[in-house]
Amino acid sequence: MVELALPKNSRVQPGKIHKAKPGAKQPRAFKIYRYDPDEQQNPRVDTFELDLAECGPMVLDALIKIKSEVDSSLTFRRSCREGICGSCSMNMGGHNGLACTTAIEDIDGEVAIYPLPHMEVIRDLVVDLSGFWAQYEWTKPWIQTYQPAPDKERMQSVEERAKLDGLYECILCACCSTACPSYWWNGDRFLGPAALLQSYRWLVDSRDDATGERLEALEDPYKLYRCHTIMNCANTCPKGLNPALAIAEVKKMVVERKL
Ligand code: SF4
Ligand code: SF4
Ligand code: FES
Repeated sequence: MVELALPKNSRVQPGKIHKAKPGAKQPRAFKIYRYDPDEQQNPRVDTFELDLAECGPMVLDALIKIKSEVDSSLTFRRSCREGICGSCSMNMGGHNGLACTTAIEDIDGEVAIYPLPHMEVIRDLVVDLSGFWAQYEWTKPWIQTYQPAPDKERMQSVEERAKLDGLYECILCACCSTACPSYWWNGDRFLGPAALLQSYRWLVDSRDDATGERLEALEDPYKLYRCHTIMNCANTCPKGLNPALAIAEVKKMVVERKL
């Protein structure tokens, strides 16, 4: 039988244990993935016990408390603290999500916190998203028009504007793409659910004139057709969006264009 095992230098080791302060009323353990490329050692999982009676309710509150009071070297991204910037995406309790909108009490047992899956880790919970951003850029996420500019704004009817609902709310957190098995295996060629949802956002914008070019560019066995409708993306999106549906609509537009 074939045995599959990680190479030795990537095996995650048990790490340091930081106990809760004596007298903690509501102790809870957080198991956090740590990796520092400068140390030239295997990644490890550190345990931090916090007193939840003295901590805010969200996972991000716990991370900030650990960084401020226990280990200032803990590294993670965050900015807005209210589910808008998309920078605090990570894997918590086995699910991708935003640390600032994920309640600690919604995670069972020990709170396991890892970087977004199948991405190169820069340090601790920070992953390299340069490929993800390059794919977003490839979609040309800006309006393209061939008509002379109107005197005032480019008008849309209420119905035309409504077509952007469920698309414009995407905060590009990468939770969906990094939960997609097709993206894990073909992330260099498959655009992934986030970039494809963004493509659809411009395809259905009534003000954009480049629909034909956009569809032509997407018609590729990898860029679009590696989506096998596994639906992880829709199940994981912290904004409640449905990239799988957007991808199905893009596929339909590609076919309809040829009829
Ligand atoms: S579709 Fe949802 S999960 Fe995917 S990048 Fe946008 S907001 Fe994040
Ligand atoms: S529906 Fe498509 S894009 Fe979404 S997780 Fe599945 S394969 Fe990936
Ligand atoms: S800090 Fe901005 S989305 Fe979480």
